[in-house]
Amino acid sequence: MTTHAQELDRYKSQTKKSYKMYERADKVLPLGVSSNFRTYEPYPIYIQRAEGSHMWDVDGKKYTDFSLCFGAMMVGHSNPVMVKAIAAAAGEGTLYGMPHDREVRAAELICERFGLEQMRFTNSGSESTMHALRMARTYTGRDKVLKFEGAYHGGHDTALVSVKPPKAKLGPAKHPKSLPVGHGIPQGTVNNTVVAQWNDIASVRDVLQKHENEVAAIIIEPIMMNVGVMAPRDGFIQELRKICDEFGALLIFDEVKTGAKLAWGGAQEYFKVKADIVCLAKAIGGGLPLGAFGSSREIMGEIGSFRSFHAGTYASNPLATTACIAALDKVLTKPVFPRVTKLGDALATGHNKIIKKYGLNAIAVNYGSNGTVFWRKRVPTNYREWLDQDFDAFWKYWHMNLNRGVIPQAQCYDEQWTVSALHSEKDVDHMLRVFDEIAREMK
Ligand SMILES: Cc1ncc(COP(=O)(O)O)c(C=O)c1O
Repeated sequence: MTTHAQELDRYKSQTKKSYKMYERADKVLPLGVSSNFRTYEPYPIYIQRAEGSHMWDVDGKKYTDFSLCFGAMMVGHSNPVMVKAIAAAAGEGTLYGMPHDREVRAAELICERFGLEQMRFTNSGSESTMHALRMARTYTGRDKVLKFEGAYHGGHDTALVSVKPPKAKLGPAKHPKSLPVGHGIPQGTVNNTVVAQWNDIASVRDVLQKHENEVAAIIIEPIMMNVGVMAPRDGFIQELRKICDEFGALLIFDEVKTGAKLAWGGAQEYFKVKADIVCLAKAIGGGLPLGAFGSSREIMGEIGSFRSFHAGTYASNPLATTACIAALDKVLTKPVFPRVTKLGDALATGHNKIIKKYGLNAIAVNYGSNGTVFWRKRVPTNYREWLDQDFDAFWKYWHMNLNRGVIPQAQCYDEQWTVSALHSEKDVDHMLRVFDEIAREMK
């Protein structure tokens, strides 16, 4: 049996140029990276290029990539359709600071696909949820928002509450404590973010009753994808819809990960539930930084009337909106979704067969283009169950995959794999072959 220490030695011997790059990077970038989510022990591989379902690191090692920039590269790396569209657009000016034809077309495509009357562009998922929450506060005249323990909605203060709170501080299951992610988040902001338990409608009701007429919105990731891939139990999303109406709160779908990935029309199509506000980013940008948030004409009217602030120098830039049009119109079309779901389901089924064959303490799931392996016997249904996992096993699995030329999911045990429009059965077979070898060693 190979030990984790041996696998780490192998990792270091295969990634010498990445290590040199890391040493340089660490001098100018904290942790040697530009986003904390990109770091892991002992140091990350540094990427040189990517094409199709593959990436190559600076040592020249090739990987079958199921991380796809945290799912943002749903179109596939360097997809020829995208390259052509972006290259042509680059010669026509990349920033106007004035309205233009492409943003109108991109907005039409997004409104049609996600059942929105109006929307505004942003540059990231964080901006989308930040503006959506402010707009919900304006519309309802209420300050508090309700989120779920363990959910991530971006890097702004309101959202940075109870994202990965430590087990010892969680508080009662039905009334989780609101715990800031780190320092620098004002206590007043923390107090305005109230927290409930995923998959527990009684917890949601209790929290809403405790803060009656104070909660502007419930924000959810319809399938929580910052704790692996944690689906709602049957009927939970429908119950949330009803309880929002009962308490006069808006229902916000943070579809930064599920939008144009779970299904053609995202989670609203998948669960057949209408949200009041939808937040988007990642896949809709076709590989360029683009976000959006949208709603009814009435709610978006808070922005149109200047009551709720929204602006941005880079919002709807011609390059990103061109990429959005190509991605939605030409790449992430309806036939893609059954195909990626089939490949993702094959990954989960294949993993589960191998897990059973070697008697591992793990289980795999898949929804649409996203899946993961949980390092526990049963699929967790909330953050507290999710915490109860063998995270050491994940890190061994992670390094063993990299050593064998597979990036099995985005970095860290709280992420998931993505199957892009350019992945094939060959990629699935490769990942499963490698997992069989890994599982044999891990048993
Ligand atoms: C559900 C969800 N919301 C919001 C965000 C923030 O998006 P961004 O990193 O583009 O700011 C993320 C990022 O992973 C996310 O997963």
